[in-house]
Amino acid sequence: MAAVLDSVRAFFAAAPAFVIDHETPADVVARETLLDRAMGADRRTKSSEKIRYGRVPAEGLALVARDRAGHVIGTIRLWNIEAGVTRDGHAIDALLLGPLAVDGAHEGKGIGSALMRAALLEARKRGHGAVLLVGDASYYERFGFSASKAQHLVMPGPFARDRFLGLELKAGWLEGAAGMIVATGRKLSQPRSIRAA
Ligand SMILES: CC(C)(COP(=O)(O)OP(=O)(O)OC[C@H]1O[C@@H](n2cnc3c(N)ncnc32)[C@H](O)[C@@H]1OP(=O)(O)O)[C@@H](O)C(=O)NCCC(=O)NCCS
Repeated sequence: MAAVLDSVRAFFAAAPAFVIDHETPADVVARETLLDRAMGADRRTKSSEKIRYGRVPAEGLALVARDRAGHVIGTIRLWNIEAGVTRDGHAIDALLLGPLAVDGAHEGKGIGSALMRAALLEARKRGHGAVLLVGDASYYERFGFSASKAQHLVMPGPFARDRFLGLELKAGWLEGAAGMIVATGRKLSQPRSIRAA
């Protein structure tokens, strides 16, 4: 019996404390509960929410962190946007990142960084050129974000200029980008009851 317990302990000691995974429909309630706890009830009044409202996240860019039992302990999602236009009038496709949140009981274990790195890697693999977000520069600078990349762009609503940050995944992608961020992601399908009406 002691040998069996030892091997069970060894298995769990060797298993990673968390994994990054794609979000599934079964994760939605846990994700929303986590966000309410981490960001407070007023999270839905933010300008970023105007971009997200009624849309689905960019393909393959809704990720979660799971603990060993499979529970959601972190979340990150990215959204398709137009990041203004170039000087010659071409719309610039990009992504808006957020929200990013980690369960308070698991903060400081590298989960937020792992979610960021996995999401940025996936965005690069999928050919996206740039990512924008509104957040603490002191946290996001470590991933390469800077306010200078978003200096001529505006959110559709109030935002703090020094918290509006950009990262180019392809060099020069945001060069000359100016104007308002516009949501371009696929819309959520209408509820069944409305469709039937
Ligand atoms: C911000 C958040 C996602 C970080 O997740 P995490 O798993 O604790 O992050 P990591 O373990 O990868 O990194 C921890 C490091 O980030 C730092 N950090 C955390 N939040 C920060 C913030 N708002 N500003 C600056 N640094 C921050 C920590 O001090 C720590 O620094 P260290 O590595 O020098 O010790 C998490 O704290 C959270 O969910 N906060 C509430 C929701 C929120 O504010 N989200 C948006 C962030 S602007």
